[in-house]
Amino acid sequence: MSTPPTPGKPRVLLMHHFLDPGPALLAEVAEVITYPSNRPLDEQNIRGAAEGCIGIVSQLKDPIGPIVLSTPGLRCVSNVAVGYDNIDVAAATANHVWVTNTPGVLDEATADFAFALMMATARRVVQGDTFVRQGNFKGWEIDMMLGHDVHDATLGIIGIGRIGRGVARRASGFNMRVLYSDQQPLQPEVEKQLGATRVDLPRLLAESDFISIHVPLTNETHHLISTAQLNQMKQSAILINTSRGPVVDEAALVEALKTHRIAGAGLDVFEREPAVHPSLIAQHNVVLAPHIASATTRTRSEMSAVAARNMATAVRGGRPPNVLNPEARQ
Ligand code: GLV
Repeated sequence: MSTPPTPGKPRVLLMHHFLDPGPALLAEVAEVITYPSNRPLDEQNIRGAAEGCIGIVSQLKDPIGPIVLSTPGLRCVSNVAVGYDNIDVAAATANHVWVTNTPGVLDEATADFAFALMMATARRVVQGDTFVRQGNFKGWEIDMMLGHDVHDATLGIIGIGRIGRGVARRASGFNMRVLYSDQQPLQPEVEKQLGATRVDLPRLLAESDFISIHVPLTNETHHLISTAQLNQMKQSAILINTSRGPVVDEAALVEALKTHRIAGAGLDVFEREPAVHPSLIAQHNVVLAPHIASATTRTRSEMSAVAARNMATAVRGGRPPNVLNPEARQ
């Protein structure tokens, strides 16, 4: 499957094409080989393609576990994403492989998109668009497509990292009351700036009109929102997820939406991506997006640059700026 590396130039496996300037930055330091786009994305195949490579530039759909990470000579896996739940970091550390991600550059785009989903769901933007396109708009009606006010509502933010804080900042423009839950409290001055109040998760669920999730997927956050949590929400509540699909128990969410236990959901991520629960497709009170929260040209280009710089540093023998397991190569 693999061919021997060109002497003198370390080889890097690029799993998928990515935007400029990443490819040029990588080409300065490495011979870049690309993963065949028609080959299944499983560990055995990725391992085969990675033989002889010092690095892998991966994306969030690539499973990078112990089989890939034990490839001889592998030094760094650079994920073009801020989330890295597709990578077994412990196995990387055990194999002395650095793992890097792209923090910082996608916070604002993702916070924008969480708000876009909030607005679209609450104000029935997608339903309205379909209605007009299908020729159903026959005249203004006083009770047509009534939605929920976003302004003056209570917003509950689960996870107040960089993206969660970006959502809180936007909420002040809508005069929203902002609650957050997080293991780590914000500094009092940051809380004050954001106008955000820390509460426990049950209180956030019970009091919020909109709930926006901004936690990474870990063993602790898997199904953080399931039947019990949905049952604690207001019947008028709208759930927004731009984090990772498995943070929400999709079957429980479907049930809550079908039975109008909650009012709606705006989802950019799904439990078994790219598969979407068929009942979600059938629901009118949800807005669905194909994992595009960071998908602006500028943001994706910045992610590309950060990922390429991480890899280039590792190839040159340095410690990449965004390393997640610095202990890996000690
Ligand atoms: C996108 O979901 C990312 O983690 O960057």
